[in-house]
Formats: sequence, structure tokens, C-alpha cells
Amino acid sequence: MSAIVITLETQANSSEHLIIHPPLTGLSLQGIIRVPGDKSISHRALMLGAIAEGETQIQGLLLGEDPRSTAACFRALGAEISELNTELVTVKGIGLGNFQEPIDVLDAGNSGTTMRLMLGLLASHPGRFFTVTGDSSLRSRPMSRVVKPLQQMGAQIWGRKGNTLAPLAIQGQALQPIHYHSPIASAQVKSCILLAGLNTEGETTVTEPALSRDHSERMLRAYGARLSINSDTNSVTITGGAKLYGQKVIVPGDISSAAFWLVAGAIVPGSNLVVENVGVNPTRTGILEALELMGADIQLENQREVAGEPVADIRVRSSGLKSCTIAGDIIPRLIDEIPILAVAAVFAQGTTIIRDAEELRVKESDRITVMAQQLNKMGAKVTELPDGMEITGGTPLIGTQVDSHTDHRIAMSLSIAALNATGATTIYRAEAAAISYPNFTSTLREICQ
Ligand code: S3P
Repeated sequence: MSAIVITLETQANSSEHLIIHPPLTGLSLQGIIRVPGDKSISHRALMLGAIAEGETQIQGLLLGEDPRSTAACFRALGAEISELNTELVTVKGIGLGNFQEPIDVLDAGNSGTTMRLMLGLLASHPGRFFTVTGDSSLRSRPMSRVVKPLQQMGAQIWGRKGNTLAPLAIQGQALQPIHYHSPIASAQVKSCILLAGLNTEGETTVTEPALSRDHSERMLRAYGARLSINSDTNSVTITGGAKLYGQKVIVPGDISSAAFWLVAGAIVPGSNLVVENVGVNPTRTGILEALELMGADIQLENQREVAGEPVADIRVRSSGLKSCTIAGDIIPRLIDEIPILAVAAVFAQGTTIIRDAEELRVKESDRITVMAQQLNKMGAKVTELPDGMEITGGTPLIGTQVDSHTDHRIAMSLSIAALNATGATTIYRAEAAAISYPNFTSTLREICQ
């Protein structure tokens, strides 16, 4: 029995090829591991810290590229943010309404959350002019979903293709409160409007068709915002003008990152893994429910609450998986985990159907097309649907060359698929993982036995 070979090759253009060659038999995943801090919570802790009065202290911040983009933008807006590290990041807030006018374009990099949430804040800061941009992926992602409601509030925003694509220019205004009925269940849309409402006199309400992640609501309240939630109608109302005060934030591990190990542990025979300190906010745990439906052996241990967010250690043992259907209101609760769920489905008996997930087409890549193409290159049977995928499991995968399309979650999902393939899989542009999981490859090496 030989060991797995995991090689990272840096190319002349500094992109990376990750080559994963599992042994023919005998690979199993073992260990007690931790995943980096939650990306959604990390962004919000930095942003709210920046607009609060006094000092915010953040433990466990994700050191990925996306929060780095947020930190850079809010530094340019006047907040003093210490060097980023997981132990302790301090943010000296400037107080609501006090952004300085940045002397250059605000660059959100690859991060939709940075751009969309920041737009709500910028649009509601009268008397300042801002420009925002991002990388080529972000410049092709729809901004109309936040520009339109902000315009209904009186915002002045200009951009390409009828003000729908970044780069965008924003002339800050005193806005009017609205009740916005969002056509999509999106935490980025909801949070953008709530942040605009924070600096707007009166009551601003967002109603969404299904509940999306509620980290903004939890954290806004903790920082001192006046918020009321109607869970019967999926509505949140913010009353503008409240002062926010610096907080101590402890960021739990990201369940979206833990999901890679949960699927890996489920599909690689003989595995037994514990992922410690994972955020299990009910608006994010759709992946646990989906895996349980598929027959995965997953246990939540040591459940507790840390700084306003539920946290647990999650144990996974390998087991035979069966297909399932995933659609409807669960989709926003596992939207980022669908690429890795597709990998689980490839190794499950029967045909898994994923529907109502058209949002995947406007993520960091078109995750429906890219996952179908890349898994099919390895021999899987994945058919694209307009709003999801149909995946017939049980065909063995054969290692080949696949491409992340610079999407972090695709890079990591394909790496997990490679663990159960015959032969070597080369994942092109694997460096994308650093957006949300900088040490993904070292943890992979650590647990492979
Ligand atoms: C996020 C919301 C989700 C998610 C993204 C992070 C957030 O996007 O896919 O990775 O932190 O608010 P949508 O709001 O577009 O669904």
C-alpha cells in the first residue's frame, strides 16, 4: 500500500497546479482539525467595526483574500484596522456617517459580499464620492440586485451596462427608507439594504422569499443597531440613526469550509474526522441536513454558543451514500455548498436532483456549468439543469486535468473528488482556494493516511 501524493506546482504566471494522486487502496482520512474563520462573519465584523464608535476586537478572523479586500476598502474609508491575523485584529471605528472620501478606487477583489454590502454604506453617506471595482469575475457579476433597491431609496449610482456592472461610481446621498420585497433570498441584498437603512432616517424593511443567512441581523444588534425581525414573513426592519459601539467578536470556523471535509470523510472509506469549532447557525446548516438525507454519518458534538453564534464540533465517519432531491427553501441555507454536494452525489447510489439553485450561475463562476463540465471530465454523469444539476452516482472517477475557473469552491470541491478517483488529478488554478481557505492543501495533507 503506497501513500497519497499531493504536489503543488507553481507556474511561471504564478498560478498553481495541485496534483492529487491517491493510492489504489488504503487511503482514509483521520484527525481532529479546524477550519478558518467564517467568511461572512469576518466581513461583517470588519465592516461594522469600521462604522462603530470605539474599538472592535476580532478573534479568529479569516485571513483569506476576501476579508483582506474588505479591510483594504475600509482602511481607505478611514478606519484603522490592525494587521490581519487570527489571534486578534483591532478596528478603530470612525462612527457612522464619517467615511473619508477615498483618494482612489475601492477594490473589492473577488468578493461579492465586500462590494454589495459596502455599496449600501457608501450610497447613504451624503457629500462623498466613491468608485468601486473588483477583479474580472466580480466585474461580471450582477450589481443591479443592490443598485435597484438603493436607487429606490434615492441613491445615485452609475456603472456599465445601465448601472448594473462594476466599476461603479457612487455619489452619496441622504436616502429615504423603503420596504423592499427582494425577488431573491440573498443575504448580500438584505444586508446591503439594512446597512443603507442604518444611516437613513426612519424604518427600512427588507422582505425576502426565503430566509438567507442572518449574520448581519445578529451582529448589527450586538453592535447596537435597532432591528426588529418578523420570522413569519422573513422581514427585517432597521430603524436608522442608532450609534454602533465597538464589540468583541469571536469568529467561528466556516461551515462552508468544513463542508469539504464532511464530504471527504463521508466518501473516502474508513475515514473518521472531527472538524472542531464550526459555526452551525441554522441559516447555514442546510449542508448537514442534505448529507444526512444522503445517509452520511455526521454527529454534532459539544454544541455551544460563542459570541452570539451557535458552534459545534462535527464528526463524520464514512458511509455509503444514497441520492436525494434538494430544492426549495433549503437552497439559500446551503447555496455555497452545492459544488461539494455535487461531489457527494457523484459517489451516491441513484440520481440526485438539485433545483431552484439558479443563483449558482452568478457566483464567482457559473458553478452549474463549471461543476458539470469538470466532474464529467473525470467520468461523472452530471447533467446541467437551468436551475441546478441532475447527478447519477456510482460511476468511478478517473483522474485527469480539471480547472477551478479561478473559483475557490470549485478548486476545493475538485480536490475532494480527486481523493476518490483512480490515478492523478491535476487541478489548474488551485490557488483560488486562498479566497476563503488559505491552508486548504496543508490540512488535506495532514488528514490523509
Ligand atoms: C454571503 C451571501 C451569499 C453567499 C456568499 C456570502 C454573505 O451570497 O453565497 O458566499 O456573506 O452575505 P448571496 O447573498 O448572493 O446569496
